[in-house]
Amino acid sequence: MDRKDVLDLDDFSAEEIDEVLATAEAMREVLSRPIRRVPPLRGKTIVNLFYEASTRTRISFELAAKNLSADVVNITATGSSVEKGESLVDTIKTLQALGADVVVMRHSMAGAPYLVAQHLRGSVVNAGDGCHAHPTQALLDLFTIRQKFGFIRGLTVVIVGDILYSRVARSDVWGLTRMGAQVILCGPPTLMPDFGVNGHRAGLPPVEICYDLDRCIHRADVVMALRIQRERQTGGLLPSLREYINLYQVNAARVEKARPGALVMHPGPMNEGIEIAPDVARGSRSVIEEQVTNGVAIRMALLFLLAGERVGLAVA
Ligand code: NCD
Repeated sequence: MDRKDVLDLDDFSAEEIDEVLATAEAMREVLSRPIRRVPPLRGKTIVNLFYEASTRTRISFELAAKNLSADVVNITATGSSVEKGESLVDTIKTLQALGADVVVMRHSMAGAPYLVAQHLRGSVVNAGDGCHAHPTQALLDLFTIRQKFGFIRGLTVVIVGDILYSRVARSDVWGLTRMGAQVILCGPPTLMPDFGVNGHRAGLPPVEICYDLDRCIHRADVVMALRIQRERQTGGLLPSLREYINLYQVNAARVEKARPGALVMHPGPMNEGIEIAPDVARGSRSVIEEQVTNGVAIRMALLFLLAGERVGLAVA
């Protein structure tokens, strides 16, 4: 992989995605060892710069970096000079001066990691910027789908819920379509972007749009439920939660209608009982826990490809 930063999947080729997924396979093998530690990032400093809440993404980057023997520094907006009003660019200059090789960042403003990438000599990995992009989540979704089916091309993935505010959906659309899957985006009209013709107006590659889950779920090889991003919404976009549950919840009766062997996915955190029924979240079709485990392997792969010394994956 010949790039400095990972900001979104819109500029990834299928070959590049393949390389990340293949590297993640090797990392899964490392994760299955009794001692999950290999040396390629020894002496490198990875900074986790999180301006927004996160559990799984931050921890999985931290574990990924540690498994590759990097030094890891975690910075959250509270308790840092960000609270004293330091600008993002000044924070980055400080991190640069302190020797950060990779900055993993999450920010509520779309585009913030792109600004940081211009000011940092090291690599920037976008761990979620506002409603815009979440490329490592999309890569772990691709990895999980390929692990289960053996391929991605030709599969139909129905992503259902708050598409308008979802950075996960946007990055998944880029990654899935680039790998040859068909994507159906489904949700109430108030939680869907203005797609225009074939999705072009939303700045996305061609996708299918469906406002009625019961009309498209029978085509799904994968059903991916999304959390309603209340923290990003400015007004009441849902007249009633009960109506949302009636029409869009991924529940057992609906999953029953999906294609044989269909998978249920969710990026987490889940609001069980709202976008997904608890029995489905824990049911036999669910690969939600595997998504979390695969997240560590994907982040190890990316950190390795961006900053690793090519010394192989021998035991440290
Ligand atoms: C997602 C995010 O932060 O965008 N979570 C995650 O990274 N696993 C989805 C969400 O917050 O709903």
